[in-house]
Amino acid sequence: MKLVLEPADHDRYLTCLNECFPGWGTRAMYDWCFARTATGPAPERLVITDDAGQWVAGTAISYRTMRSGGQRWLAGVMTGSWTLPAARGQGIFPRFIEETRARVAHHGGVAVLGFAGDLERASTRKLKSAGSRCVPSWHALGEAAAASEAARRAGDALVAHEATEADAERAYARFRERDGTRAGFVYDDLASFVGQMFRRSLPVLCVDGGSVAPSAVAVVERAKDTDRVLLLDAPDEAARVAFLRALHGRAAGEGRKVFAFGVGEKEKGAFEAAGLPCKGGFLTILEASDSADDRATCDTLATLDWDYQSGDRM
Ligand SMILES: CC(C)(COP(=O)(O)OP(=O)(O)OC[C@H]1O[C@@H](n2cnc3c(N)ncnc32)[C@H](O)[C@@H]1OP(=O)(O)O)[C@@H](O)C(=O)NCCC(=O)NCCS
Repeated sequence: MKLVLEPADHDRYLTCLNECFPGWGTRAMYDWCFARTATGPAPERLVITDDAGQWVAGTAISYRTMRSGGQRWLAGVMTGSWTLPAARGQGIFPRFIEETRARVAHHGGVAVLGFAGDLERASTRKLKSAGSRCVPSWHALGEAAAASEAARRAGDALVAHEATEADAERAYARFRERDGTRAGFVYDDLASFVGQMFRRSLPVLCVDGGSVAPSAVAVVERAKDTDRVLLLDAPDEAARVAFLRALHGRAAGEGRKVFAFGVGEKEKGAFEAAGLPCKGGFLTILEASDSADDRATCDTLATLDWDYQSGDRM
């Protein structure tokens, strides 16, 4: 087995992704994920080939700068890892975890992050057994049929339109004003924020909280049958809950689901108060090197109050 860094054949990589994650996405989605620099080094892809030179597995690293207070750290998010069925169960994914650590350390990063599912998933179990700290995360999903009448009425009061450059500028100004005490990814300029939250491979709406959540605004991605709440900016927790409930009602009115994501125990309470059932997962945090410094930093990172929403992932 041989490791190849940044293989030239992008189409082949995309085909493998769609084989291992049915319906993973288009070339536009691929380019958004793997040809766009967020904050930090450009994303990297790794492939393992067998003795005949055939691809058997791949994984990618999306580099992101994290911040808390005045401190900053570079991390690599492990994303889109796949092993073709015939090569599974041979320890390739654990090898990718180690190779990812080495790449992140090479760039001066301190941690390998994973936005992982629950421990039913082999990838989450392997990230944990490699030594990752596992911070609870929540995938909130509101089915159309589950939206209450009150949620649907509230949804009717929301005002939505296709997101414009002006919306993106306003959202970025608000993002910068927000309480910096919560930890999160860095968006140092408008371009990196817009590239992450607005200029995506799927259409994006800007939704005004209207009378339901005055002065609140949400950025919503229109996936196949689901409205994904990429970013929700509300003046307080009550407004956030009311807005989420209304976004559920709005999606349900179109026969669609709503999805939101958060990290930390208290996020679960907000989602459930909005009537959105939560499935648990983990933000996994693994030191990039065996140094005592990286270990201590990752121990600290695991205790922070993370403000990660759906739009921040990947
Ligand atoms: C998750 C995935 C990347 C694991 O890759 P891998 O290289 O097979 O990883 P491992 O060799 O460590 O095996 C992981 C687990 O797969 C299971 N497994 C073992 N042999 C297997 C086989 N022949 N076929 C399927 N699964 C097998 C086992 O549960 C194993 O865990 P164990 O070692 O504790 O028994 C791979 O199954 C995959 O591509 N799945 C679809 C895409 C996905 O879910 N990616 C992860 C999210 S980013």
